[in-house]
Amino acid sequence: MTRTRIFIGALVAALAISSHAKAAGDAAKGEKVFRKCAACHSLEAGKIKVGPPLDDLFGRKSGSIEGFRYSKAMKSAGIVWTPDTLDRYLAAPREVVPGNRMPFPGLSKERDRADLIAFLLKTLAAR
Ligand code: HEC
Repeated sequence: MTRTRIFIGALVAALAISSHAKAAGDAAKGEKVFRKCAACHSLEAGKIKVGPPLDDLFGRKSGSIEGFRYSKAMKSAGIVWTPDTLDRYLAAPREVVPGNRMPFPGLSKERDRADLIAFLLKTLAAR
C-alpha cells in the first residue's frame, strides 16, 4: 500500500534525523531479538499465530486485525503503532495497556528495543 510506504519512509527519515539524540538501533541484532516475538507474531499479512501479524504494524491502530480475538484492553487502547509507541509498550506492556493479554513481559533493555525497532523498520519498509 502506497500510503503505508510513504508513512514508513517518513518514519525512517525522522529516525535518521533524530539519531543524533538517540543512537539508532542495529537491525541485524534486532533480527535476533525478533525471534522472541516470532513464536507468537508473524510478519506475513493475515497469518495469525498466538498473537496478531505485525506485517503492517507501523501506522496501524492497536487491536485492528480482523479475525484476531484481542482483549478488550487492547481493542480500546487507542494507540497508533509507531516506533515511539512500540518502544513504550515493549518497555512495560502491562503498564501501558493494563489488562492486555500478551503473555510476554516485554523487553527491559532499551538497546534491545531500539535494535528490534530498527529491524522492523528495515524489514517492513523493504516490502
Ligand atoms: C507468547 C506470545 C507472545 C510473544 C512472545 C509476544 N507477543 Fe505480542 N502479542 C501477543 C498477543 C496474544 C497479543 C494480543 C494481546 C491482547 O489482545 O491483549 C499481542 C499483541 C501485540 C501487539 C499489539 C498488536 C495490535 O494489533 O494492536 C504488538 C505491537 C506486539 N504484540 C508486539 C510484540 C513484539 C514486538 C514482541 C517481541 C518483542 C511480542 N509482541 C512478543 C502475544 C505475544
